[in-house]
Amino acid sequence: MRFPLPASRFYHTPSAVSNRLTMGTIHITILPMQDYPYVVTISSEKGGVGKTTLATNLAIFLKALNEDLPVSIFSFDNHFTVDKMFEIKGQKLKGNVADLLLETPGSELLHTGQYGVNYIPSSTALTDLKHSIKMPMLLARLLALSQIPGILIIDTRPDLDALTENALYAADRVIIPVKDMASLENCRNIFELFDRRGLDKKSLALIPCLIDSRIKYEGMFRDQRTLLKSYAINRGYRCLDVHISKSPKVESLNTNPAGRVYPVLTHARGTDVHGQFFRLASLVTEEMEKTAEPRSLLFRQWLTAENGRKKEAFFARLTGLKPDCLFCKRPLLKEPTGTASYYFETSDGGASGFLEEECFFGFLLSSIYNLDNGFTADDPTWHILKDSTKESSFVFRPMENGNGAEVEFSQFDLKGSRQSKKHYKLREYEGGLLSRERSKLFTLMSETLAGFGESLRDGFLFVHPVNPQEPEAILLEENYRNFNRLKKHIGEQIGDREA
Ligand SMILES: Nc1ncnc2c1ncn2[C@@H]1O[C@H](COP(=O)(O)OP(=O)(O)OP(=O)(O)O)[C@@H](O)[C@H]1O
Ligand SMILES: [Mg+2]
Repeated sequence: MRFPLPASRFYHTPSAVSNRLTMGTIHITILPMQDYPYVVTISSEKGGVGKTTLATNLAIFLKALNEDLPVSIFSFDNHFTVDKMFEIKGQKLKGNVADLLLETPGSELLHTGQYGVNYIPSSTALTDLKHSIKMPMLLARLLALSQIPGILIIDTRPDLDALTENALYAADRVIIPVKDMASLENCRNIFELFDRRGLDKKSLALIPCLIDSRIKYEGMFRDQRTLLKSYAINRGYRCLDVHISKSPKVESLNTNPAGRVYPVLTHARGTDVHGQFFRLASLVTEEMEKTAEPRSLLFRQWLTAENGRKKEAFFARLTGLKPDCLFCKRPLLKEPTGTASYYFETSDGGASGFLEEECFFGFLLSSIYNLDNGFTADDPTWHILKDSTKESSFVFRPMENGNGAEVEFSQFDLKGSRQSKKHYKLREYEGGLLSRERSKLFTLMSETLAGFGESLRDGFLFVHPVNPQEPEAILLEENYRNFNRLKKHIGEQIGDREA
């Protein structure tokens, strides 16, 4: 039995960019492959409802229906049924599903399997690995970058663990087998999970499985299938327009002296289940055909946009920096000196830039620690002080106390715990009006927090150490987020209104 199918983006289809090789009278067309898989996840918390039988046979029937469609499968379970069914004897294995989660591209892990189905071998390492999987969208991201073509079937464990959750969110279609009232009750958890995460439940659909057609009821619920379907619809769950019957023949397919698992396609011809799988495979194919952009492609587009946004935000931060060191006025960015060791930013984000290590440390020694009494460069105290400054963040906060302008200076460790606090008079010139030496503290404050007229803006200046080899790295998304978190935490401690 074959169903005619329209040409699809999932197949090798002729295109403007195809190459044609002519060998005698035979034309071979090398065509681009679609590498964003349409993903079908089979899931149910209930054990023994037929998930693995469904996943493995669906893959085989999909391939039988669509010769040119690349079909792949893997399982998050550790019973190795997928491997027993698809592995080719003597095949050298090049990784498994644990490697996929550890970021090996999916296409590199695909093994050519029996019945034309590609598979990623199962793994026993998932129990340990899953505890480190904290992100529910990890698999969606990995599949978006996997370059797995065609359709991918994922078999899951009878558990709503982190791996199942990931497989649910990555799927274009989730098929939930239900065989009785208990398994029907159980699928509420999947629907509630989608509600909690605010996800569209359109991807979820039930399929009555292991239906014993000999059982008949009096009244409107004629049989098991009608009963389960009515209850499902009553609860607002969508049901696929196909079911899988219970069949002793199918049950016997994984019990044989060879320890193999045989497929319904070849070993259960003539059963109802054989026809039902064809129907299911054609239904899934139709849905796939209607899906112009599978989730993996949408996720990839989102990742690209997100990267673009991050790059833009990074360049915006970079162009907003003051170009010179505030103290020595040497250009830091145009001619990188490798000595830009501190990043500063005001609490309102109005001024930001880098400071030379020598300049800032020299300023701390003379104006803050009052230790400017002739240290030589080989003095161990000087080195200890210099190292400890690189382990600290600094806050300079202008204030008025009735006796003129002051600056509250605080030193924090890199986790944001305050180590010390002191107040300093803020004067333009050191040593009073007769002195011509401009105060470095005044320079620092006026260059960053200058407000209207002679007053300084409300808020504070935050100075944080950076790696002098790569100072701009602090402005990259993740680092900048951490920097801002620390800035906010410190602002809350010192009672800044903006924090
Ligand atoms: N249509 C069917 N007719 C008869 N027996 C079936 C049918 N489908 C599956 N079975 C049998 O039911 C049992 C459970 O099936 P299967 O392993 O596919 O379920 P599962 O949901 O994957 O189980 P688990 O939750 O343990 O992973 C197996 O022994 C299998 O052979
Ligand atoms: Mg299973």
